[in-house]
Amino acid sequence: MDSDKKEMPKHVGIIMDGNGRWAKKRNLPRTYGHKEGVKRVLDIVRAGYKMGIPYLSLFAFSTENWKRPQKEIDNLMFLLRTFLVEHVGELEENGVRLNVMGDLSALNEKTSRLVYEALNRTSKGDKMILNIGLNYGGQDEIVLAAKKIAEAVKEGSVGVEEIDSSLFESYLYTKGQPPLDLLIRPSGELRVSNFMLYQMAYSEFWFSNVLWPDFTESEFKKAIDDYQRRDRRFGGL
Ligand code: FPP
Repeated sequence: MDSDKKEMPKHVGIIMDGNGRWAKKRNLPRTYGHKEGVKRVLDIVRAGYKMGIPYLSLFAFSTENWKRPQKEIDNLMFLLRTFLVEHVGELEENGVRLNVMGDLSALNEKTSRLVYEALNRTSKGDKMILNIGLNYGGQDEIVLAAKKIAEAVKEGSVGVEEIDSSLFESYLYTKGQPPLDLLIRPSGELRVSNFMLYQMAYSEFWFSNVLWPDFTESEFKKAIDDYQRRDRRFGGL
């Protein structure tokens, strides 16, 4: 099946998982798994814009990941900063606009400063939106949207009768973007782990046993090819 001729997913989400197990299999510290995982982030982002996928969402750090040892959290933040310092120019040159899903206020000053700089630098990108889940939780996102709508109703700028899915979506981190077409989860876990719960209502799922640091462009293409063979009915016939 030729992935160029069939319809590409417009929005792909990935729960990057398995970095720790990848390292453990090699008797290496978990940080090595995360470091290798960042290389795949770059590969998959590049593959995404080359293939013409206009929206890519990656789960980098969940609201629950704060429960990990501080050393591992610090390492993940360091890797994120390094990624931004080294690659924001490439994102900018290739028309990739970065968008963060999650509450940045919990990040330390040097990390959040680099994230805001990257958001500014890439803000004109019109080829791909790269959503990064950072201190992100899908339930939190929905609750936050509900709160903001309640406030808008209270101050009179939104009427209760105006609340529908399209208004609701405009209060999510993915405002103006299409819903998830394809959700990819490597590493053999069969769960959605609080990722993009609203956006995945009609998403197709691709689960694979490959650990994230081994999730190369060819694995990504397998997922896309499989997606292109699916018969999506959205509740119709
Ligand atoms: C899951 O592996 C992975 C994470 C919690 C972090 C994902 C983050 C990156 C790949 C790096 C930072 C991101 C960017 C965008 C530069 P795990 O540790 O849960 O693996 P395990 O389940 O095998 O222990």
